[in-house]
Amino acid sequence: MILPTWLLLLSGTALADYYNPPISDGYGNWSAAYEKARHFVCQLTLTEKVNFTTGVGTGQTVGYSNSIIPRIGFRGLAGDDGPTGVRGADYTSALASGMNLAMTWDRQLIYEQNYINGAEHKAKGANSVAAPVVGPLGHAPAGGRNFEGFSPDPYLSGIAFGEAVRGTQDAGAIAEGKHYLLYEQEHFREIVEWNVWLAEEPNITDPYSSNVDDRTLHELYLWPWYDGVKNHMGAVMCSYNQANNTHACESDRLLNQLLKGELGFQGYVSSDDGSQFSGVASALGGMDVTGPGETSPNGISGLGESYWGPNLTLAVLNGSVPEWRLDDMVTRVMASYYYLGQDKDYPELNFASGNFDTYGYEYPEAELGWRKINLHLDVRDNHAETIRKVGSNSAVLLKNSKNTLPLKKPKQIAVIGEDAGPNKYGPNGCSDRACNEGTMAMGWGSGSTNFPYLVDPLSAIQQRALKDRTVVQYVLDNWAKDQIGDVSWQAEVCLTFVSAISGEGYLEVDNNFGDRNNLTAWKDGDAVVKQVAANCSETVVVIHAPGPILMEEWIDLPNVTAVIFAGLPGQESGNGLVDVLYGDVNPSGKLPWSVGRKREDYGTDVLYKANGPVPQLDFSEGLFIDYRYVDKNNIKPRFEFGFGLSYTTFDYHGLRINAVPAVPTASISPSQAMRTTNPSICPHTSLNPSDYTFPTRCTPTRGGDPKLWDVVYRVRTTVTNTGSVAGQEVAQLYLDLGNGTPPRQLRGFQKVMIQPGEHKEVEFELRRRDVSIWDVVKQQWVEVTKLGTDIKVFVGSSSRDVKLRGVIPATGKAPSMISSMVPSSSSRMSSVVPSSRFKVTPTPTH
Ligand code: NOJ
Repeated sequence: MILPTWLLLLSGTALADYYNPPISDGYGNWSAAYEKARHFVCQLTLTEKVNFTTGVGTGQTVGYSNSIIPRIGFRGLAGDDGPTGVRGADYTSALASGMNLAMTWDRQLIYEQNYINGAEHKAKGANSVAAPVVGPLGHAPAGGRNFEGFSPDPYLSGIAFGEAVRGTQDAGAIAEGKHYLLYEQEHFREIVEWNVWLAEEPNITDPYSSNVDDRTLHELYLWPWYDGVKNHMGAVMCSYNQANNTHACESDRLLNQLLKGELGFQGYVSSDDGSQFSGVASALGGMDVTGPGETSPNGISGLGESYWGPNLTLAVLNGSVPEWRLDDMVTRVMASYYYLGQDKDYPELNFASGNFDTYGYEYPEAELGWRKINLHLDVRDNHAETIRKVGSNSAVLLKNSKNTLPLKKPKQIAVIGEDAGPNKYGPNGCSDRACNEGTMAMGWGSGSTNFPYLVDPLSAIQQRALKDRTVVQYVLDNWAKDQIGDVSWQAEVCLTFVSAISGEGYLEVDNNFGDRNNLTAWKDGDAVVKQVAANCSETVVVIHAPGPILMEEWIDLPNVTAVIFAGLPGQESGNGLVDVLYGDVNPSGKLPWSVGRKREDYGTDVLYKANGPVPQLDFSEGLFIDYRYVDKNNIKPRFEFGFGLSYTTFDYHGLRINAVPAVPTASISPSQAMRTTNPSICPHTSLNPSDYTFPTRCTPTRGGDPKLWDVVYRVRTTVTNTGSVAGQEVAQLYLDLGNGTPPRQLRGFQKVMIQPGEHKEVEFELRRRDVSIWDVVKQQWVEVTKLGTDIKVFVGSSSRDVKLRGVIPATGKAPSMISSMVPSSSSRMSSVVPSSRFKVTPTPTH
């Protein structure tokens, strides 16, 4: 008899199972990497091992870097930010934001841009990339760093995160997914930052705590991390905040039990700058390296002091931290290094973050190691092409009346609004991009990078308009009412630019402490649009922003004939936009969140006023954020999740649902489970684990239980391009899983290019996880059909524009009983009669 996985795992918990062994089966060569790492680690002395765990401070790069160990000829590792490129370097690309990648809904583009990011880091000699970002997920629409990540929808974020990890690592660099976990706002994330640097009151004594129940954790915030681990993510950065009132970087539950245990994460966990709050507890809680090394800014007294370093040596010597745990930490780092093959011809570090001098100190804080630090290598290759493509393919067309777009050789264009033009201080003129000057193509903070150039919309439009002999006038001052009045009166089409921006909490812009204070356009944007629309019968609004903005003041005005949400598209901003404005690229972006009519429509928000010395963020809404909240509460959003127009139209027909015959998935063998009982990596550090009583419970699973990844249903439909131009459609699949889940949850999407008059078959694969909920009592995923629930299936072009419906029957129900349950119409349903076909094959017991 084959025992279910969970039973095997439970039986293992009686043992002292708190060591994560390498797991290689079926997922590449972690086993070989661990073996090499073990050999490497076992030749190190105690202090050399400690050296590895303790970063050398924000030095030549901004991420985790350890020091060279000359005795064995090891050059040390270096990491650098981040999601939009190699931070602080020269001759590198400035990529589109993670949010824009999500707006493309295009797996290939997400992969490609992250491949570029990995390749540029590698060419500059950085071993790891502090990206991709899936924390914040997007609990509150005003959250300052949401744009670094993808979407508040866990499925979309999970797919994007997985592709981003794959892309980065295929290029050779270690992907350090961040920030783990529940890091959902900037306010109160750091003690010193909030109390001293930014605000005066009230004083907080600890970072905020995000409080969330186990089910919400699994089905929402933890969900995308499964995809990262499944795709071999080599590193994870633990976050500033607390989770259920335990610091994220010392949370046994988050790190040992969930990440390394339930998800089977093989790599290492690094702290963020100042997110470590203890020495022994963080070591036992599952943190493997202290990124910057020092306690600053939240720790004892700052520069030069470390919870680890000499303190970790002491802790090992006095027995507070078992040496095998130290071995495990270093082994994990080196396993990722070997897994990526970085021992073979990996480039030397050849830049210094934020320092363009050719010569300088290798360790600037200590003023040690004067040498050539910067080779000024140009690593951009032809990456601009992909960035431009991400820009055009992510643009979301929200409105297009009177056939305004694409532009048809207009005689005269007016370009209006500061967001259309350059920053008068230059594209890098504001420190870490923390300002709202000129066009917005990037958020501020460590999610930023240096622009090698920034093609602003005005320049790109002028260049393109020349071809048609179009007259172009512009006004870039939002308060120049007279001039705006003049040019908008004369023009045939008025391209009107509005913006908002946000960023990381260590910088403040116009009184916004990372998080946005409101969801409206900055710099009087609403008034600008209204003034233009009062004069110009074809007012096209272009929005550059880090998330949704409210548009109620002008969206219904008849003269506002077109609206494009362009996000934060990076260096090729203007070019990508022009491609869409002129129809060289048919818009295909879809919203990765909802656009509400008012702020309250979202149901969740940033906590702006501390509700105590340790601010408490209770995520009492559970699974219901963004469209899940909107749908549950029958709120009519302005634009729903998944919405986006095209210059063509699409029709859907023929919904076909098939159960996939079960293929037995290998269970974890008892011998594998037993491997958890051997904490000894190096023979000489073998210790009796029962001497240590810290509460960990790790179990060997693979990207979550392997069965979660089995494809259990295939859903197919046919999409036809019914218009006159070629275009890409993002076909979307939503499920209603009952059992207290949101009315609709995204569980599939496919982007397809279709020529006019042609049709394409689209297939969605539903994995077991996609049709399951987390059972908090059983502590496992359970397929809802096994709970007697029929799954309602919705296929369409947005979360509300449902074209076809079907049902996946509960286990044991005959297909004939099901067809009568299929509704024949809905308010926004096409006239196509839905058809469902079931080949109900028994799926494995689990
Ligand atoms: C703090 C940020 O939270 C993190 O994302 C970044 O990687 C580090 N600083 C290094 O810049």
